[in-house]
Amino acid sequence: MTDRAGEYITGLFSAEDELLASLREEADRTGIPPIAISADEGRLLQVLLTAIHARRVLEVGTLGGYSAICMARALPPDGRLLTIEIEPNHAEFARKYIARASQSDRIEVRVGRALDVLPALDGERFDAMFIDADKEPLPTYFEWALRLVRPGGLIIADNALWGGRVFDGETDDEKTRAVREFNRRMSSDPRVLGIIVPTHDGVAVAVVR
Ligand SMILES: C[S@@+](CC[C@H](N)C(=O)[O-])C[C@H]1O[C@@H](n2cnc3c(N)ncnc32)[C@H](O)[C@@H]1O
Repeated sequence: MTDRAGEYITGLFSAEDELLASLREEADRTGIPPIAISADEGRLLQVLLTAIHARRVLEVGTLGGYSAICMARALPPDGRLLTIEIEPNHAEFARKYIARASQSDRIEVRVGRALDVLPALDGERFDAMFIDADKEPLPTYFEWALRLVRPGGLIIADNALWGGRVFDGETDDEKTRAVREFNRRMSSDPRVLGIIVPTHDGVAVAVVR
């Protein structure tokens, strides 16, 4: 995508209300890393969740709660979102903003390492799983998504292009290899139908068959 196309799309779809703008500003000011999704990626998640009539969503990687609040806003009144975060200070910050967004009864932040938390969810069914955390376990997150997301539901992952390292032909570290392997499964595992949306750092999306 050209820079101008990106600017055009961002200009149209990046409106942020006061709460999300304040979350981003306070996160920056208080040392939470500036790695939340962009406002237009938030819109993309909302479109996808609305399209499948999602009621239950699982997120790996809460940070300050930006994406969780965006996604929860696309759920019906009885919708629920569970988000997993390894850093207690990120979780605490997120809970504060989730409360300000009046979403505390719909969003649960569970503190822990995702690979330790996910087994406790075995047997539950989600309409979508948004993966936005550490990269090394991505192939394992993919397998967990297949256990936890219902047929017709969505597996979504941010950073599918990994800053271009997945295709630069030079980088071969563990994280890059894991993103490549995740993308390979999203493209050719017969249990899903997937694609990478080439926006920002790439958003991988797959429907579970
Ligand atoms: C890119 S940020 C998430 C951004 C968030 N989804 C948003 O857009 O607002 C990644 C988050 O994942 C968390 N994280 C990293 N490894 C994790 C793990 N193994 N289990 C749970 N959380 C993890 C980090 O602490 C960080 O807060």
